[in-house]
Amino acid sequence: MKFYITTPIYYVNDIPHIGHSYTTIVADIVARWKRLNSFDVYFLTGTDEHGAKIAEVAKAKGKKPQEFCDEMSAKFRATWKLLNISNDGFIRTTEYRHFIAVENIVQILFDKGLIFKKKYGGMYCIGCEKFFAKKDLDKNGHCPFHKTKPILQSEENYFFKLSFFKDALLERITDVNHKEYINILPEERKNEIVGKLKLGLEDVSFSRSTIEWGIPLFFDKSQTVYVWADALINYITAVGYPSDETKFKNYWPADVHLMAKDILWFHSVVWPAILMGAQLPLPKTIYSHGFFTLNGNKMSKSLGNVISPQKLVENYGVDATRYLVVTLIPFGHDGDISWQGLTLKYNTDLANNLGNLISRTLKVAEKNFNLKAPQAVLNLDFVKNVEKKLKESFAYNMDNFQLHKAVENLQSAITLVNIQIEVDAPWKLAKTDKSKLAMCIFSYLQAIDIIAMYLLSFMPSLAERIWQITGASGNISDITKKYFTNGIIPEGGFSVSGTDLKPPGVLFPRIL
Ligand code: MSP
Repeated sequence: MKFYITTPIYYVNDIPHIGHSYTTIVADIVARWKRLNSFDVYFLTGTDEHGAKIAEVAKAKGKKPQEFCDEMSAKFRATWKLLNISNDGFIRTTEYRHFIAVENIVQILFDKGLIFKKKYGGMYCIGCEKFFAKKDLDKNGHCPFHKTKPILQSEENYFFKLSFFKDALLERITDVNHKEYINILPEERKNEIVGKLKLGLEDVSFSRSTIEWGIPLFFDKSQTVYVWADALINYITAVGYPSDETKFKNYWPADVHLMAKDILWFHSVVWPAILMGAQLPLPKTIYSHGFFTLNGNKMSKSLGNVISPQKLVENYGVDATRYLVVTLIPFGHDGDISWQGLTLKYNTDLANNLGNLISRTLKVAEKNFNLKAPQAVLNLDFVKNVEKKLKESFAYNMDNFQLHKAVENLQSAITLVNIQIEVDAPWKLAKTDKSKLAMCIFSYLQAIDIIAMYLLSFMPSLAERIWQITGASGNISDITKKYFTNGIIPEGGFSVSGTDLKPPGVLFPRIL
């Protein structure tokens, strides 16, 4: 089975911050999880490079737009590499293949009479790259997202007949039995979209005459394609539209478009309407998450309180950053984060619970079994209990993007092993019952291996390191795929008796 997941393509006027990283890390964890469950995954991210905002910033920096985009797009790529993001594709809207896809779609819509010329005036927010109706501005007449005053713009544009799709959209969004049902999540956000749709749908501008930095409209070269129309089409360009039919048929429609609530409307209304106009299949799920604030404030460059992924990695390391970022707010809801909160979570979950589990298990093994997996039978009841903690709801949570809850499942499995260690008191057994001690350590090792397999999507390098520390055999990804398919613990365990273990060192140094 295939699974196509996307993040938004990020504007290159800004460098990647924790907000972009959050969406991308969530998508990465889910993509890895699906691969481990034997899905043929295509995970896409990329950069959105056209429009007034980017042209302005490039100009201010004294750079040509393309040169500026090349530099900034490379920064996003480098950040995703730093965060160990396993994207299969990376798309830039300035690529030739994308021009072709956009031209194709525009041509189809034009031929169908869905694009027409109209004089238009309105309040335009450059930050959002969109026109605002007066009623959608805040009480000061400012953009609710950017808190800046939109500028009055009037020009002759080509418009897309979005209004034509109102009923078709409502059906597809609300009728779960519709064969083209679009699942918009979370439910509250879907209700907002439905409410807004019911109030009416206006046609949208599809081209701009004043913005040069864009894809020229092929039938009127004095205009460029509106940046949002251009941007949304990336999702099909990346999987081969229009030239690679096999790839396109294999992956499209997207299984999940992931984003924050700020751009849900474009994805759940404008995008499906474009696709319907072009008679292409519709995305299956559109999932929006909330916004991070930092110590109660919106993060913004001007407030100088933006958390960079680089700084997070400096503080916590790559794996812990991935873990912390997704655990701090419930997916789908807004949430406030702070450095203090991140450090507390790091110390509690990672340094104390997980770090301790591994270090004390290995210490006893070193002292008593010459750093080898002991010769013993497995305490199957105990290991099954650990499995149960994970199996019960972990998969459900992962499949439903409730990563913060999946992490709770993981932590409760880790805690269960730590409690068992307290009960068994191996330091006492070392003096009284060596064969029980062997069984305990052997069983803890297998439990740790199981935990590592479930951790693998969140903390890929760390899970591999744990796999080496416990002397588990085979490649962790291959073994995990097998284990997730058949649920069978190999007869001799994952860490076979007699294999060498590795000193763990300090996996998570405590942070003060
Ligand atoms: N280029 C458009 C998207 C086009 S998709 C066809 C865009 N780009 S953006 O750079 O502004 O990125 C917006 C996305 O970044 C949000 O939808 C979200 O995924 C992420 N986030 C940016 N700031 C964020 C927070 N403070 N909190 C959570 N996510 C945030 O919009």
